[in-house]
Amino acid sequence: MKILLVCLGNICRSPMGEGILRNEVTGRNLDWEIDSSGTGAWHVGEAPDIRARRKSKEKGIDISNLSARQFTQDDFDKFDVILVMDHQNKRDVLKLARDENDRKKVELILEYSHPGQNLSVPDPYWNDDGFEQVYQLLKEASEKFIEKHT
Ligand code: 4NP
Repeated sequence: MKILLVCLGNICRSPMGEGILRNEVTGRNLDWEIDSSGTGAWHVGEAPDIRARRKSKEKGIDISNLSARQFTQDDFDKFDVILVMDHQNKRDVLKLARDENDRKKVELILEYSHPGQNLSVPDPYWNDDGFEQVYQLLKEASEKFIEKHT
């Protein structure tokens, strides 16, 4: 299975999610490909935000080698599942969808841990203290995602 995580900048939430999901998948003998991207282009080519790198490192996950890129329509062809962090990400990704097959790939990631609640992963960019919560939410959602798809 090929999974893409998407946020706004691809420097905080989705690279953390990429690292967390990859870490959870490691050792489970799953042939999964995991990537992340952002709906915006401001940070293209940048490494994850220092606060996202620090929080991940604290949890034993190295995301320092990731590089931000922008979500493109081709991603609908390259990935089976597109996990978005919030409602704005969902709207922005769906704007590029060509058909129902594209649309049905897009899911709010927290629907795995909090089904039916339509919850977003809060954007931590303007909140230094938000990164622990982002980590906890993404870890729980990743565990539930793996449970559901294995
Ligand atoms: P992310 O966080 O979407 O979790 O990567 C953000 C990163 C950058 C900006 C906003 C959110 N920004 O406005 O530059």
